[in-house]
Amino acid sequence: MKIGICTGGGDCPGLNAAIRAVVKHASVSYGATCIGILDSFNGLMETPPRVQTLTLDMVSDILDKGGTMIGTHNRGNVYSRADGQVYIQKTMQGLSKVGIDAMIVIGGEGTQGMAQVLESKGVPIVGIPKTIDNDLPGTEQTIGFSTCVEFVADSVMRLRSTAESHDRIMVVEVMGRDSGFIALHGGLAGAASVILIPEIHFSYEKIVETIQARQKEGKKYTLVVVSEGATQKGGEQLYEGQNTGVKNLGGIGSRVAGKLFEMTGVETRYTVLGHLQRGGAPNAFDKIFASTLGYEAVELVMKKRFGEILVQKDGRITTMKLATMDPGRRKIADSDVVLKTAEGIGINLGR
Ligand code: F6P
Repeated sequence: MKIGICTGGGDCPGLNAAIRAVVKHASVSYGATCIGILDSFNGLMETPPRVQTLTLDMVSDILDKGGTMIGTHNRGNVYSRADGQVYIQKTMQGLSKVGIDAMIVIGGEGTQGMAQVLESKGVPIVGIPKTIDNDLPGTEQTIGFSTCVEFVADSVMRLRSTAESHDRIMVVEVMGRDSGFIALHGGLAGAASVILIPEIHFSYEKIVETIQARQKEGKKYTLVVVSEGATQKGGEQLYEGQNTGVKNLGGIGSRVAGKLFEMTGVETRYTVLGHLQRGGAPNAFDKIFASTLGYEAVELVMKKRFGEILVQKDGRITTMKLATMDPGRRKIADSDVVLKTAEGIGINLGR
């Protein structure tokens, strides 16, 4: 049996751990051959297909290596374009040229959207969820999120000592696109006083209330975590990076810092954590989670349970039909227990 593996979308810590588990379990337990598709589905669309047989030797030292050993790509779902049929056809041709019997697709919402299309064309696919943003519909947890949150929390805690020494407001801009999971979890674990997320349109006046209340208590510094997709009430998301050929969310950290300085007169600095949030080694949770998902994906392939994606529901790993996965991105619900906890313990969400 030949199992193809691909990683799509932005990289994250834990991808190699998942690949390692797939290769080890598939070859040792079942004598299957694993084929890495290079640079997401792109490797299959090219002639000849760019693929790499993954041996046990090749995956022997990658458990805690960041990124993905088979490359990735995050420039959109080409199958959804007007000329998408051409790409679908090229991918199907690539699959048959390489002789792949089943595909394990490790990705977030964009990549799993492409997997849904291939699945509808009859390609035997099993999905594994990943993204630091944790915004894939249908699952409570994705590979990479936990490591990212740990990094954000550590960064916020580091900024605390310097904020406190200088009596400053520190604003930290984090990733997450249109969902605030990274900001909410990283901010809570980093003991931020203000957390701004895309799901709640914030008001500067509300943030200033917290800064002033802290001042009255003798705390002259304030830590603010802002998600890159957050907006002021009635405002619009900010973008930057055009000069590097991309248009990504960004710039809200600087905007919030400037406005808070203007309104309070307190010295303010901002830090953009950027791609540091995606790099480096996975933490223990992600190593275990990714390994488990890799193992379970091979089990699904061997049982011929195709068209399913592994998800975490009520804390347990289970599966759902790829076809039933909602399009778009998961957002923080108002009933989210972490959101309620944050507000319940006095963190200001800008409302
Ligand atoms: O989806 C993961 C993510 O890191 C987002 O949080 C962020 O907005 C985006 O990818 C950045 O993309 P790029 O790698 O293209 O800069």
